[in-house]
Amino acid sequence: MSLFARKSIPALIAEADESEKGLKRTLSSGALVALGIGAIIGAGLFSLTGIAAAENAGPAVTISFALAALGCAFAGLCYAEFASMIPVAGSAYTYSYATMGEFLAWIIGWDLVLEYALGAATVAVSWSRYLLELLAKYGIHLPAELVCSPWETLTLSDGTIINGGYFNLPAVIIVALLSLMLIRGTKGSAAMNNFLVVLKVAVVIIFITLGWSHIDPANYTPYIPENTGVKGHFGWSGIATGAAVVFFAFIGFDAVSTAAQEAKNPQKGMPIGIIGSLIVCTILYVLFAHVMTGLVNYKQFANDAKPAATAFAQTGYDFLQTALIVAILAGYTSVMLVMLMGQSRVFYTMSRDGLLPKFFGQIHTKYRTPFKTNLFFAGFVAIFAGLVPVSDLGHMVSIGTLFAFVLVCIGVLIMRKQMPDLPRSFKTPLVPFVPVMGIIVCVYLMYSLPIESWGRLAVWLAIGLAIYFGYGRHHSNLRDK
Ligand code: ALA
Repeated sequence: MSLFARKSIPALIAEADESEKGLKRTLSSGALVALGIGAIIGAGLFSLTGIAAAENAGPAVTISFALAALGCAFAGLCYAEFASMIPVAGSAYTYSYATMGEFLAWIIGWDLVLEYALGAATVAVSWSRYLLELLAKYGIHLPAELVCSPWETLTLSDGTIINGGYFNLPAVIIVALLSLMLIRGTKGSAAMNNFLVVLKVAVVIIFITLGWSHIDPANYTPYIPENTGVKGHFGWSGIATGAAVVFFAFIGFDAVSTAAQEAKNPQKGMPIGIIGSLIVCTILYVLFAHVMTGLVNYKQFANDAKPAATAFAQTGYDFLQTALIVAILAGYTSVMLVMLMGQSRVFYTMSRDGLLPKFFGQIHTKYRTPFKTNLFFAGFVAIFAGLVPVSDLGHMVSIGTLFAFVLVCIGVLIMRKQMPDLPRSFKTPLVPFVPVMGIIVCVYLMYSLPIESWGRLAVWLAIGLAIYFGYGRHHSNLRDK
């Protein structure tokens, strides 16, 4: 069998329609937008905005957000065409299987582990940091060894410095709890997600509205601080590096596409879910970043893991601080929920295709969810969340996701050439301009990330290749036929 054997699209859709074995179709278009927003707003906004402002872009972090949004919009438009044409579980993996063949599909499916599984781990680590702040407000202090990875230095709010612990226990616990919740089914999880989305959007809007009148215009001068002579430290290159950093804040809108098989009307719902959630988040992010850097001088955000709280303190509404942290913690859980769900759906599909052992494709008889995959990734994500520092995780997630976006943009170009007549209810506008721009912006953002991320991406892909040639290639369903 050729490495580039493709799965036929009618076969893909027929498989999805096999309702006896498949997943339940319960999600409306509105629920899909909520799913997107639930996956998008999280650690990227509440943690990385301040860091990108302090280290890379200054108040012009708003422009960084716009640049990152541009890359996501181009890629999002490509995602939406695929999602409306191939409305089955599996996301970019499934799309590439139908267009670019099995080998590249495997690479992208394997790469998506970086986005979804490590993305969940990254947010879990950040979640545990906010939890520590909350507990400290009530005088509760967990043993230092149980809140920190062995390779991390952590400064607690009371000034205590922890130089490496055993592992990050709160991060492990939250991953385990959310994985168990997912096993019980996406309908219940989607209902909770809707609640969390409302809460999270409310926090962002309250922050913007209450903060707006306390903005000190002096904090915007200079708006684009002069470059220090080092690439990525202010000036234009700083804005670009800032964009690569805050790109993390947009990751997740594509997770909507992993739920295609559970959407009531996927042809209509997928593009609405993807583009709708992206537009809402971009507007909120730029306003949020504008207010945050207007409340406090960007320099003060250096090494601040909770810049939203620091900035909000300027408004004088101290009593809302605790509520803000609680809502942020709750908001993080919905991000992790969607990431963990996306991951399990990708591996579920890869297993149904024979590229991974059957273990990953087994559906729970009562809950109708791929419970074994959920359990496997509960362990996998917990190991990373417990042991790896947040910055290392974040860069891996960004580079892995950008790589997936590039492949999706290439996929649309191929699809238009090879299958021009196949019906799609949503067509990416201005092809080839949009996909080509998606490729250019995403590669540019990848280029702006540290070189170590490239090395780690290469190692991860090498492991994936070994598994494909050792297992997947010989067990693929396409091979039997
Ligand atoms: N976009 C998600 C976040 O910022 C991953 O947490």
